Amino acid sequence: MIKKLFFVFVFALPAVTCFSQVYKDKNVDGETRARDLLSKMTLEEKIDYIAGYNQFYIRGIERLGLPEIKLTDGPVGTHKDGKAVAYPASVLSAATWDTSLVYELGKQLGRDSRARSVHVLLAPGVNIIRSPLGGRNFEYFTEDPFLNSRITVAYVKGLQDQKVVATVKHYAANNQEWDRNNVSSDIDERTLHEIYLPAYKAAIQEAGAGSVMNSYNPINGEHATQNNYLNNVVLKQQWKFDGFLMSDWSSTYDAVAAANGGLDLEMPTPKHMNRKNLIPAIESGLVKESVIDDKVLRILRIIFRFGFFDNPQYDSSVPLDNPQGAKAALELARAGIVLLKNEKNLLPLDQTKIKSIAVIGPNANNYISGGGSSYTFPFSSVSVLQGIKDHSSNVQVNYAPGVPTLNETVFNAVFYTEKGSNVKGLKASYFPNTQLRGNPEIEKIDSIVYIGNGWHIAAENKGIPYDHCSMRWTGVIRPEKTTNYRFIVKGFDGFRLKVDTAMVINEWRNQGITTREVVLPLKAGVEYPVTLEYFAGAHPVDIAFGWREDKLLFDEAINIAKNADVAIVNIGFNESSERESNDRPFELPEYQDSLIQCIVKANPNTIVLLNAGGNVDMTPWLNQIPALMHIWYSGQEGGTAVADLIFGKVTPSGKLPVSFERKWEDNPAYPYYYDSAGSKRVAYKEGLFMGYRYYDTSSVKPQFPFGFGLSYTTFSYSKLKVKNIGTAGKPLYEMRFTIKNTGNYDAHEVAQLYVKPLNAQVVRPVKELKKFAKVFIQKGQQKEVVFTLDADAFKYYKIELKDFDFDAGAYEILIGTSSQDIRLKKNIKVKK
Ligand code: BGC
Repeated sequence: MIKKLFFVFVFALPAVTCFSQVYKDKNVDGETRARDLLSKMTLEEKIDYIAGYNQFYIRGIERLGLPEIKLTDGPVGTHKDGKAVAYPASVLSAATWDTSLVYELGKQLGRDSRARSVHVLLAPGVNIIRSPLGGRNFEYFTEDPFLNSRITVAYVKGLQDQKVVATVKHYAANNQEWDRNNVSSDIDERTLHEIYLPAYKAAIQEAGAGSVMNSYNPINGEHATQNNYLNNVVLKQQWKFDGFLMSDWSSTYDAVAAANGGLDLEMPTPKHMNRKNLIPAIESGLVKESVIDDKVLRILRIIFRFGFFDNPQYDSSVPLDNPQGAKAALELARAGIVLLKNEKNLLPLDQTKIKSIAVIGPNANNYISGGGSSYTFPFSSVSVLQGIKDHSSNVQVNYAPGVPTLNETVFNAVFYTEKGSNVKGLKASYFPNTQLRGNPEIEKIDSIVYIGNGWHIAAENKGIPYDHCSMRWTGVIRPEKTTNYRFIVKGFDGFRLKVDTAMVINEWRNQGITTREVVLPLKAGVEYPVTLEYFAGAHPVDIAFGWREDKLLFDEAINIAKNADVAIVNIGFNESSERESNDRPFELPEYQDSLIQCIVKANPNTIVLLNAGGNVDMTPWLNQIPALMHIWYSGQEGGTAVADLIFGKVTPSGKLPVSFERKWEDNPAYPYYYDSAGSKRVAYKEGLFMGYRYYDTSSVKPQFPFGFGLSYTTFSYSKLKVKNIGTAGKPLYEMRFTIKNTGNYDAHEVAQLYVKPLNAQVVRPVKELKKFAKVFIQKGQQKEVVFTLDADAFKYYKIELKDFDFDAGAYEILIGTSSQDIRLKKNIKVKK
């Protein structure tokens, strides 16, 4: 027998690999095919294979029939090829607490991907929301690891069921955008495993995520892309991840360290993991060839597992402007918008009584989203203003921005080509390089500067270079009054502005979309020369420039508010002020606090709609306004969803996936958020005690607690019955309780179950979320909810075991409608 096996392995296998093409045989299992294909690749081919090319591709190998693999960005739209369905922000998806809606989101993103031949979506983003300042909070889900895991698993399953690979990002602990490439997140082992890592683990072990993306930041002093502990020990050995680990874009720092540190794919180019660096390293023994083989094998394994080798990824049956996606976007927005305040039941508005509505605010008349690599241009969108108008056939709706918007500034800016000239516009020179070098390729007159705002527009704008180019605009401006004027430039990559002889804005560097403003005193009757220079590197051209008198537009807004039954003020951040690669302030953008205060004075029936990826400083106005809805970034259908909720067509059911502090200083991360004295290290000293885990132990209370959200109806909880159906060492409980809709509206409720250890043997949070359910109950009706709790609900990370485990003892089961509003309780004794 032994001899026979020996024959099979030693003699038969090489014979198969040399002469056959096992990898092409659809009847053979994927693992064998992947290994066979690997055995046919040269060392050079293997090294070339483990780095991206053409920005968003894994290269194909023609001689082996290996197709190229296309990647694109998520998490809120598959948008690298131009317009796409723009789904709500991820934090809104989490605020639905509805895993079936999130599964549907994943599914539609999968369909959108297939319509664009995309194999790998760079999503979901599952970093924990630690502070309201994080510029990408809107791309992430929550502060809580359990909610994070449930939402992540649903998203990944939905996506991968469409045969599109999910990329769980950014591994790990990328919780701030401030100096994100350099600042180390210093986190103790237990906190890492209990708070910051569970969603990755769940994505891999429960949903089979095919790919993971490393983060930009170092963790405990070692960059993610070469962090042996996180990549090799935890991800690959402990969790048994068998897919591939890619870098974030240009977050690889060292070829040998990354190769040995567990990185499988350097994106977007072979800057480090290339032949020049790796062949000598292999020859000298610094990197083993088997390490390179493992990386290639991981990618190939996923290619075979998802059928990319055998089947075309393109699905022509899905329209690019996918109507099912639009429907999912609407459902999510309806379910994830959170009603935070509703005094005297101002909402829902009664259309039979309301005759006029004043819609106010810079965000109300636009498609609003967070910015950066996730920014998605929808084919069409419904703004808040449009949504309200669509719902209000017999109601007079007036609009005033209150605060000028960038677009208005850009579109109304007047320039002349040169001193004394009556020709309107700026002289424009377009260069085919990024340094304004040599002769321009195009010279023309542009009446305003507004190109791009997403690459599809640049591509559609025939004749205008696409990327890797630069531009110069020159002309003069003629102020009509002697007063202050505001200049605004918004661009992707570098720009600089000269007014008169002074360089007033200078952002000449590669960077994500950035807005800069400057206010200058100018004199009437003087002609001021202006020169704007811009370059676009790898990213498509995206530049806008405008100037205007520096005054507010409150008067008009106050006026329409005074004359309306209700005022709706939509303020908050947008793609310029809340975005990747920048943190944002806790305070609202300029003048918005004052705008709200003025409007509520003019009309006490003021409803505030807030766009943000998380919490903001509400102290200047929260006590003065009767109603507040957190609408996050609610996607292309957001305006319809807002109107559905305002007019009571749908009852709000979103609940905060993040605790909202009264002031930033109340957040437990506040003292440690920035690296003190430029140390480039941020110690997460709050440890486990972040979010509600902190507020539960402190006298400091949040403004709005985790899990909170108002409804138009009321619910009563009763009849909690706990049945022990487990055995010693294998706890298993069935919890049954009844929720009754005791109000006047059919509605969804989110029931939340927290577990509280009563005699913990180590320091543990007071309570932790372990189950939740979103249930729809008609008015006057009731429903029984059943939760099953197993050992996982009682576990914590035991450092000595390097694993999760539970202790025997007494636990209290808390069931409520938010983390602070517990309605039912029961003690249980868990045996080991
Ligand atoms: C982001 C990633 C994104 C990548 C590709 C990076 O800047 O951090 O989330 O997937 O760009 O666009």
